[in-house]
Amino acid sequence: MNMVEKEKLSLQVIQLDVNDDKSVNSAIEKIMTESKRIDVLINNAGYGLLGCVEDISLDEVRAIFETNFFGVIRVTQAILPIMRKQRNGTIVNVSSIAGKVGFPVTSAYISTKFALEGLSESMRYELEKFSIKVIIVEPGAVRTVFSDNMKLAKKAMVHNSSYTQLTQKVSSGLRLLLEHGTPPEEIAKVILKAATSDNPDPRYLAGNDAVMIMEARKNMSDTDFEKFMKKEILQ
Ligand SMILES: NC(=O)c1ccc[n+]([C@@H]2O[C@H](COP(=O)([O-])OP(=O)(O)OC[C@H]3O[C@@H](n4cnc5c(N)ncnc54)[C@H](OP(=O)(O)O)[C@@H]3O)[C@@H](O)[C@H]2O)c1
Repeated sequence: MNMVEKEKLSLQVIQLDVNDDKSVNSAIEKIMTESKRIDVLINNAGYGLLGCVEDISLDEVRAIFETNFFGVIRVTQAILPIMRKQRNGTIVNVSSIAGKVGFPVTSAYISTKFALEGLSESMRYELEKFSIKVIIVEPGAVRTVFSDNMKLAKKAMVHNSSYTQLTQKVSSGLRLLLEHGTPPEEIAKVILKAATSDNPDPRYLAGNDAVMIMEARKNMSDTDFEKFMKKEILQ
């Protein structure tokens, strides 16, 4: 029995691989056949990749961009003609605090979220006249199975990498951070608020850690913020 049946949720789950045109199109076709409209798109699919920049292969970087960034474009492009026709729709892009600040050993993941921020900010201007809202949600650390699904770059697995120590330190620090992160229900509430508000903000931070880090970022010079991150997060 799956979770939907077990908890008697009034929702239908449809398989969709954001990396695959066919899968995206057939999922959307199924929704349109049954419901005739799509009001909300939440671009949430994503995973992390651990490895310092010298240890990550271009193929690994391309793969993470395929899901975390091109996947968003693929699904959004397939949905936009429907929302434009409806003259109504809401798109919530699940970014991260990692879309706003750099961090070692996670540069590929961070880059996908920085790209997503740029995409989302730009789309807002284009879609306003069709009454399509674009909202960014930026969680801090969340207690999901994200760390189990995180990949480790092949080269970083070799123990004589020049970055082994840093990679191991950040990797175990991140896992600990996620274990004690905000419960996912809290993030879901922020996404729901963003998706159902008549007049939503362009972006929402989700989680106290996200608020704390962005507050520090806003109030510090680049140099001071780097010192703060080293002291607070990397110690
Ligand atoms: N956890 C955190 O601390 C954190 C913080 C900030 C932002 N985020 C972002 O929040 C989002 C959700 O992450 P999470 O924490 O919930 O991690 P998660 O528990 O690992 O969930 C990731 C989700 O992405 C889906 N997914 C992965 N590749 C996909 C693909 N090719 N096509 C369709 N779906 C795919 C997975 O589906 P399956 O289960 O079917 O594979 C799963 O539902 C991600 O975008 C992540 O970057 C997470």
